Amino acid sequence: MAAIFKLAILISCVLLWAAAVCQGALEVSYYNKTCPRAEAIVSAEVRKAVRANAGVGAGLIRLLFHDCFVQGCDASILLDPTTANPQPEKLGLPNRRSLRGFEVIDAAKDAVEEACPGTVSCADIVAFAARDASYILSGRKIDFKMPAGRLDGRYSNGTETLDFLPAPFLDHSGLVKNFAKKGLDVEDMVVLSGAHSVGRAHCSSFVQDRLNTSSSDIDPSFARWLRRRCPDDLSDTNNPTVRQDTVTAAALDSQYYANVLRHRVLLTSDAALLTSPETARMVRDYAKGDGQWERKFETAMVRLASIDVKAGADGEIRKNCRFVNYNYNY
Ligand code: HEM
Ligand SMILES: *[C@@H]1O[C@H](CO)[C@@H](O)[C@H](O)[C@H]1NC(C)=O
Ligand SMILES: *[C@@H]1O[C@H](CO)[C@@H](O)[C@H](O)[C@H]1NC(C)=O
Ligand SMILES: *[C@@H]1O[C@H](CO)[C@@H](O)[C@H](O)[C@H]1NC(C)=O
Repeated sequence: MAAIFKLAILISCVLLWAAAVCQGALEVSYYNKTCPRAEAIVSAEVRKAVRANAGVGAGLIRLLFHDCFVQGCDASILLDPTTANPQPEKLGLPNRRSLRGFEVIDAAKDAVEEACPGTVSCADIVAFAARDASYILSGRKIDFKMPAGRLDGRYSNGTETLDFLPAPFLDHSGLVKNFAKKGLDVEDMVVLSGAHSVGRAHCSSFVQDRLNTSSSDIDPSFARWLRRRCPDDLSDTNNPTVRQDTVTAAALDSQYYANVLRHRVLLTSDAALLTSPETARMVRDYAKGDGQWERKFETAMVRLASIDVKAGADGEIRKNCRFVNYNYNY
């Protein structure tokens, strides 16, 4: 049955030469005809949520990254645990107790389903929401069109988050390799790391290899400030958060690169951008704050949001972003 379905799709692809459907190519204004208000509905929900809590905007930007690096941009990150699949990506170590923004995606999906049932994928909503959050948190300086046409996946495996999401203790070559596996280059990596100019990190993400070691290049006064905020007896229930960018905490801007230069960043992966001449030059360039980073971030976000997009029989338009359609009533 599935094979016949796939064959039918293959044949119609050959017959119709419908590149967008067959190869998963994305298009700007994809829902223009089928759900013209889709993007406006999503951005209204994102605006409402970010007004209530700017940190959720940071969460939405990170959600796109964590979706796209594992199984592609297919909303696999949104799937809840079920008896059939008790350990989805959401419960993977990098995501559990850390990701936020799921409720915003649910609210946007509900509103979009009301307007156009069964039409807009959860994967596209994640991409639109990350774009909208970037626009709002940057004070409208990051302003770009997000191509759409992604389908939602049916597979989500928590273990794969450890295989594909970069760990905070990665060094320069580890980071470059990690991004290369997903078709992103060194510049994409440096540019997208600028998202660490918003949001938070838990103490557990940086205490051990940034504060509790002599090999860290962290600014000593920044380290003392952080130490006061992170308890010695860290645990799941005692794990405070710290702002990633203590200078302009809620603004998505190039301040991150100035922080990297001053050794006032939380993660080893942030500090690692100074350890190769090529990436250090980019950091110095973007730190100038002349608007070039914002333009590069727009392009890099579109590249990020295009990773391994699903099409045809590989995906579906979920009814509820937390469950695949097959399991919908379970
Ligand atoms: C370069 C490799 C990267 C590493 C190692 C990394 C790692 C991390 C870690 C450990 C945290 C803190 C999580 C916590 O403690 O709760 C974090 C937060 C965050 N990351 Fe990354 N990240 C990377 C790249 C990116 C990219 C490419 C983006 C998006 C374009 C991104 C966006 C964010 C945002 C917005 C936050 C704050 C989330 C919030 O406040 O809820 N990161 N990252
Ligand atoms: C969307 O469709 C309408 C009506 O067909 C058209 O006027 C408008 O220019 C289209 N917008 C984009 C961005 O394609
Ligand atoms: C999840 O992925 C890991 C590899 O990261 C694999 O070993 C495991 O079999 C997968 N689990 C399922 C249920 O497919
Ligand atoms: C960091 O060092 C302190 C003092 O030696 C110790 O109590 C704490 O458990 C360490 N924390 C981590 C996460 O390694």
